[in-house]
Amino acid sequence: MNYTQAKWEHDEEDLYEPLLSEKDGNEVEIESSLPDELTRESLDLPELSEPELARHYTRLSQMNYGIDSGPYPLGSCTMKYNPKFTEDVAALPGASVHPDRSEDSVQGTLELLYGLQDYLARIGGMDAVSLQPPAGAAGEFTGILVAKAFHEANGEGDQRTEIIVPDSAHGTNPASAALGGYDVVELPSADDGRVDIEALEAATGDSTALFMLTNPNTLGLFERDIEQIAEIVHGAGGLLYYDGANLNALLGRARPGDMGFDIMHYNVHKTFATPHAAVVPAPDLSASAKSWPRSCPPRGCGTARRKAPRGRASGETPRATESGYERFDPEHTIGKVHGFTGNWLVLVKAYAYIARLGDEGLSDASAKAVLNANYLGSQIEYEVPFTPFHHEFVASAGDQDAADVAKRMLDYGVHPPTTKWPEIVSEALMTEPTEIENRETLDELAEAFNAVAREDDEVLEAAPRKTTAKRIDQASAARNLRLSWQALDE
Ligand SMILES: Cc1ncc(COP(=O)(O)O)c(C=O)c1O
Repeated sequence: MNYTQAKWEHDEEDLYEPLLSEKDGNEVEIESSLPDELTRESLDLPELSEPELARHYTRLSQMNYGIDSGPYPLGSCTMKYNPKFTEDVAALPGASVHPDRSEDSVQGTLELLYGLQDYLARIGGMDAVSLQPPAGAAGEFTGILVAKAFHEANGEGDQRTEIIVPDSAHGTNPASAALGGYDVVELPSADDGRVDIEALEAATGDSTALFMLTNPNTLGLFERDIEQIAEIVHGAGGLLYYDGANLNALLGRARPGDMGFDIMHYNVHKTFATPHAAVVPAPDLSASAKSWPRSCPPRGCGTARRKAPRGRASGETPRATESGYERFDPEHTIGKVHGFTGNWLVLVKAYAYIARLGDEGLSDASAKAVLNANYLGSQIEYEVPFTPFHHEFVASAGDQDAADVAKRMLDYGVHPPTTKWPEIVSEALMTEPTEIENRETLDELAEAFNAVAREDDEVLEAAPRKTTAKRIDQASAARNLRLSWQALDE
């Protein structure tokens, strides 16, 4: 039995991997040219052979679960497999350049950034794109600052104090709105899980700065009334914000700009190609602003067209010139939201992914994302209350506790879905298989869901039993944090 098999069969003790310092071996002598007072005399590390070291780190890596080990159907906070060719491109020798280099020595870099801005603007139906914000939430915050600057330029900064957010929205939406200094107005969803048009009409008015919406929304439902929604928001002088986390459902098929959205962010890590996980530095995202609302009242339009600020960063925005590319300061700007051009190598990966897939590949990816979610949704025994969904669905664990379901799924060797959110579905299991999985893997996932669906609470409450770390006491884990390593018996 190899180590990976042992992982699923054995008890916790068998999976214990000692730290290097706990292994037997001669102590490592320090040789250094640094002054004595700055060096240690010895390191508490044994001298080990290369295979010992390689196996130690391989075993540690096998105690974890990642997208390279199996499916990862987290809805909304999606982690999909990102092709390795994008890593190869980012590892090319010319890709690592210092951001302070002179323009003429980084023409290729500027061309790539300019090209990516253009790709993203065309994909989203936007006029301009900033590559600076380093994550989804940072993109929201940037978009909110852009909206604020827009209203201030129209002389309505003091009056427009509210941002409307549906109750199905991701938590970062109200958080970004509050951070931007706005009052958050929560909009209850209609019975079908979409925007309640009457409630929106009642909530929108002279104080509305922005309505933030995800489409398809976090239940995976397409907001069919989006044109009417845009009319209501613009009619009241507000702006419409597109949370691009679910853009992967629409790629190459529909564009937020054409639906009437004024500002958006792209979750580059979900829609294009960049790993996204708690342990990985947050990947890039871009914010863009159309220069004026599509169907806003004439007064707002006129002013906005002249004065609308762009979600761009001063000094780092690349543009094409007759002889190449240069950095420039856009006329209307909210200033920088990140150093230099954002997470440069992440942008390289996104560019490589879009360029390789092309129009056809991108729309094929969105078709497969929707097909896979619908196939998986049709195979699981848990009820999916809101349909028809697109790239993700939210099932209800019914009488079971969704967190227990998730922990038990780990025992079946798969990563669980996102749980307990959105709250409008009781015991939510928010599931997004993404376009990358084949039918066999989707069937395995469905089997895991269905096996857990048939189990009783006692089994669920004892899970997970087959992972390296077993069931933890969550309250103690939060209250008595151990931030440094301690041996198991301490
Ligand atoms: C719908 C939605 N909006 C916003 C975000 C925030 O993105 P990020 O995690 O990159 O900050 C997420 C994250 O998963 C999301 O699912």
